[in-house]
Amino acid sequence: NNSLGDKKKRAYLANREAAKYYLEKLSESKIAFNYLINRNINVDVIKKFGIGYAPNEWDGLYKYLRAKDFTDEELEEFNLTTKTKKGNYIDRFRNRIMFPIIDTQKRVIGFGGRVLDDTLPKYLNTRDTIVFNKGENLFGLNIIASESDREAIILVEGYMDVISLYKSGINYSVASLGTSLTQSQSKILKRYGKEIYICYDGDSAGAKATSRAIDILINENISPKIIILPDNLDPDDYLSKFGKLNFELEMKKSLSYFDYKILKIKENYNLESSEGLTGFTSEVAQVLSRVKNPIERDVYTDKIAREYSVSKEAINSYIRQLYRRKS
Ligand code: UTP
Ligand code: MN
Ligand code: MN
Ligand code: MN
Ligand code: MN
Repeated sequence: NNSLGDKKKRAYLANREAAKYYLEKLSESKIAFNYLINRNINVDVIKKFGIGYAPNEWDGLYKYLRAKDFTDEELEEFNLTTKTKKGNYIDRFRNRIMFPIIDTQKRVIGFGGRVLDDTLPKYLNTRDTIVFNKGENLFGLNIIASESDREAIILVEGYMDVISLYKSGINYSVASLGTSLTQSQSKILKRYGKEIYICYDGDSAGAKATSRAIDILINENISPKIIILPDNLDPDDYLSKFGKLNFELEMKKSLSYFDYKILKIKENYNLESSEGLTGFTSEVAQVLSRVKNPIERDVYTDKIAREYSVSKEAINSYIRQLYRRKS
């Protein structure tokens, strides 16, 4: 459809112009610039990621883009402005550090904006538009597509994690844009990386999100490796505290997704008791039942049977029961 194509072109153009505006505003704001410097983001990184600043004004961007002949309706539809109850248009992002989200064809499709203090919400993202669907994009994918050797990808939670990793020379990480990982995102990961690492924040939210991401990925026949960060740190915190070499050590120590799941399940059971062991093994069998590759499933079943002295036959028969229940 031609008019849809035209509209998308307008959206890419408006977003690109907005990114330029935010960049210009960053160069005019000491406060915003200092915020980035305090977070160890230098000018090279600012340029590389096109980081900008949405000033603390009601309609700076609105006026700027209206002067470039974008219409009220376009700007609202592209989610660069919001219409107030009174019928005025105001900028969607105000007083935030702006991270453009760029697709593999280098088009600006949306933004994430961070407050400079601890106001909530910490990040505001572009809502879904004709060119932006949160669940179908990843932050940093433009860099993977153009720079990385497509061997490994590290999946992280946040914008700043991707940026910090890049700064330390690790140019193959992407962030899942605040949502939990989607099936479409895992298809993209599969296309761009042979080996997928998950390195979510080292807090309990990160651990929960890791378990969910594993399920999504194994559904796509990906066997992710899990990097576990200590002390509630996220990759950005970890790198500023311990540096790249230690991060690479954590990567080397990464667990197979299966060992990670076992570790987490184990936390909930007392394996000394027979009830505990039964509960544990049943939950492990549920994980096994989701492993699509039958060889991989067999290898892991073997491992569990040996390690916990449970018969392989019992585990397999339980898995068969689970399959029957599913169908
Ligand atoms: P975190 O709370 O871990 O933030 O959220 P962060 O990335 O470490 O941010 P800094 O270091 O404090 O700047 C992880 C990711 O979840 C999404 C963002 O993509 C963020 O990077 N998020 C978080 C939102 O979309 N909205 C929020 O309000 C918070
Ligand atoms: Mn490599
Ligand atoms: Mn977090
Ligand atoms: Mn974080
Ligand atoms: Mn962080």
